[in-house]
Amino acid sequence: MKCLEFDQFSLKAKKILEAELSTIMDEIKCPGILKEAMHYSLQAGGKRIRPLLLFATMDSLEADWQKGVKVAAAIEMIHTYSLIHDDLPSMDDDDLRRGKPTNHKVFGEAIAILAGDALLTQSFRVLSALDSALFSDRQKLEIIACLSQSAGAEGMVGGQVADLLGEEQQVSLEELESIHIHKTGKLLAACVEAGCILADANEPIRQLFRSFSYHLGLSFQIRDDILDQVGDEQTIGKPVGSDLSNKKSTYPSILTLKGAEEKLSYHIDAAKSALQKIGGNPHYLNMITDLVATRDH
Ligand code: IPE
Ligand code: IPE
Ligand code: MG
Ligand code: MG
Ligand code: MG
Repeated sequence: MKCLEFDQFSLKAKKILEAELSTIMDEIKCPGILKEAMHYSLQAGGKRIRPLLLFATMDSLEADWQKGVKVAAAIEMIHTYSLIHDDLPSMDDDDLRRGKPTNHKVFGEAIAILAGDALLTQSFRVLSALDSALFSDRQKLEIIACLSQSAGAEGMVGGQVADLLGEEQQVSLEELESIHIHKTGKLLAACVEAGCILADANEPIRQLFRSFSYHLGLSFQIRDDILDQVGDEQTIGKPVGSDLSNKKSTYPSILTLKGAEEKLSYHIDAAKSALQKIGGNPHYLNMITDLVATRDH
């Protein structure tokens, strides 16, 4: 498949997503400063990889991917909340995100915490209001169950806690893999699962997609760890060396940079071979996998 076709899909998808996020924000009635803080982080850019993953999954199952826009927007709201909280002084204490000062640097800690809370809560409001003419109640409930599990204590939040507990500790590779799968992999996997739910994929197909997203999610965070060492701050739009200053265990810190690169390529290959087993038309998913392997931001 030509890159051009993927670039066009990706540009169109981001445009549609960002318009949806604007509509969602416009409809919220709340104190001005809260809205400003939510909007600040939501519209600060970002790769929008989670929405793209959901759309590409639907497309690979021959479903109309544009029907997934509200679910994709809800997921991007959850992801943005996680970034605001991840950057707080009590967590990673970072000053730069998506190329701009972090939310708490602009609005103060209290508003940043509350903007994160509001984005998370509002995302479920968006899901509960999905159009009944387009989605069955079963689909809505399955998506809500999947996202709440992937983002909460059994998923991303649990992973963030394990990540904090691992600071300054000797963490085994097995433990680190579990941290990465929870803090990052679960939400990425939820995008694929939600795509399957929206496209009415059957259970055997979903199992194959789960194997794909396991390896993709892990790859994504391994690349993130590598970029924290060798990335360029201007390009990644967040500080380089944050993991080192927080004494985090990362793939490069445990395995060296070369070992981390090897693990990345192992998991990228595994993701690709899972895709091959799925068959059909997973060309956008293949392109996203390549992007995850080589991304510089
Ligand atoms: C950053 O996610 C946090 C991680 C889970 C590694 P992204 O790299 O997707 O951040 P944005 O959305 O592009 O800013
Ligand atoms: C955070 O991992 C994952 C989240 C759930 C936000 P990192 O702390 O490594 O993410 P970055 O590098 O700050 O984006
Ligand atoms: Mg963190
Ligand atoms: Mg961080
Ligand atoms: Mg990081």
